[in-house]
Amino acid sequence: MRKLLIAGNWKMFKTFDEAIDLAKNIEKFVRNESVVDVAVFPPATYIHVVSSLLKNRSIFVGAQNIYPEEEGAFTGEISAKMVLTSGGSMTILGHSERRNVFGEPNDFICKKVKKAMATGLIPVLCIGEKLEEREAGETESVLIGQLEGSLDGVKIDSPDEIVLAYEPVWAIGTGVNATPEQAQATQAFIREWFRGRYGPMADKIRILYGGSVKPSNAEKLLSQADIDGALIGGASLSSESFCEIIAIAKRISIEGKCQ
Ligand code: PGA
Repeated sequence: MRKLLIAGNWKMFKTFDEAIDLAKNIEKFVRNESVVDVAVFPPATYIHVVSSLLKNRSIFVGAQNIYPEEEGAFTGEISAKMVLTSGGSMTILGHSERRNVFGEPNDFICKKVKKAMATGLIPVLCIGEKLEEREAGETESVLIGQLEGSLDGVKIDSPDEIVLAYEPVWAIGTGVNATPEQAQATQAFIREWFRGRYGPMADKIRILYGGSVKPSNAEKLLSQADIDGALIGGASLSSESFCEIIAIAKRISIEGKCQ
């Protein structure tokens, strides 16, 4: 079984003090957790302080996005190196809000993936179909397009260098999660695509599920064979619900996935 990764995407929420409180509460709960991996993605302005608070704990801190250039006149953007030197070790890329609200295309996301990896950040590459695409039976072709476009020419030497996240757009922030069966079938499909491109490493790559994950549905989702963790928005904003999901993941990791 792959080590489960429970990741919280704080999006554009929390004041400075609230972010510190949340990080401290997660830190208290996680301590030196080693059974599951935990990651938090605070707003960029808090990466440094959150990573200082979580130092020496087994919690990754990351950015929600980066710009693919090394440095330069790109007002308002942050680079991979800025994230790294602020204590971050991961970055979400290609989140559906970046793709759909900010119109980021696959080739731009691909440049970010390459830049992140070249800088030593682990990208959490998000892909996912819209409701009308699923209803039209286009889920697989949409995902193939996103995977091919976002990973065009991306060399991966080890499965630890990248994480994938399947996030159906219709499930994000809606309260309607994909059923465990839908998510499992889609993630198995993604893993097979990955195997075709990258070979046996596909068995070790982590594919997270994201979209309305909460304590009440985490157990069933995380018990699926091809779901290796969760990327959590709303439920990661409270330490109670986020830590409850970590506890569920820990239990599954210890007891094994029984389906
Ligand atoms: P949600 O967000 O858990 O609030 O649906 C998930 C995400 O956007 O990563």
